[in-house]
Amino acid sequence: MILIKKLSMMVLLMLVPALVLANEGGVHLDKAPGNLNDQASLQRGAQFFTANCLACHSANYMRYNRLLDIGMSEDEIKKMLPEGSKLGSTMKAMMDAESAKTAFGVAPPDLSVEARARGVDWVYTYLRSFYTDSNRPSGVNNLVFPGVGMPNILAAYQGEQALQVENHDGHEVKMLKLVNPGSMTAAQYDATVGDLVNYLDFMSEPAKLVRHKLGYIVIGFLFLLLILTYALKKEFWKDIH
Ligand code: HEC
Repeated sequence: MILIKKLSMMVLLMLVPALVLANEGGVHLDKAPGNLNDQASLQRGAQFFTANCLACHSANYMRYNRLLDIGMSEDEIKKMLPEGSKLGSTMKAMMDAESAKTAFGVAPPDLSVEARARGVDWVYTYLRSFYTDSNRPSGVNNLVFPGVGMPNILAAYQGEQALQVENHDGHEVKMLKLVNPGSMTAAQYDATVGDLVNYLDFMSEPAKLVRHKLGYIVIGFLFLLLILTYALKKEFWKDIH
């Protein structure tokens, strides 16, 4: 009895960090819709990432030629290459870290493993949660990253959002409202960010694709083995009865 109590206490204690992390900042995180087996989505994400994010961020652990793994052809990849880069080059930021730091007050971090570090849901929500805030030097703030140094380069697509604080049964609920539309509808923008985060997830652990495939092969092999073993058993026992 005491053992069971002790064990359940231990399980509870092990859960504590997860609960604390899940509640960080108290902001509800939307679920990222990503699917690592959807190559078209990964390719759209890669295009959007290289066109919009590498201006400031790098992905130093990612080489352009690894885009072959998500079904892009060498020609398609070559079209995305910045001047002076080769197929085997890593994804470098256009802006050097020092100038970026001067401009934004903080250097844009490398995004190679961002999806794994923050979690896909965090990144998905972050990229959809910028809002106008005249108290910030950049003119914007972010619900999941208060005081963020990143300017809202996504406003051109998403439009501008304003913060609305409503009082629900005595506690404040923060909500964002689109006040100035961008070039995409809300659904298009969510889908675009979904693809982008899917790609960031792939980039943070490209081996995941191989691992998933390997899993199916192993299960298939075990299944085959089961059938063979069963046939063998029948063969062995058939003369005994
Ligand atoms: C104009 C420069 C610029 C561009 C372009 C830009 N960012 Fe940023 N980003 C920043 C800066 C600066 C920060 C650091 C913010 C801070 O720490 O306050 C940042 C932070 C981030 C973070 C949070 C990092 C963390 O602390 O975990 C993510 C995620 C991110 N950017 C994703 C993107 C994506 C995806 C794109 C492309 C759609 C992009 N950024 C384009 C400048 C930029």
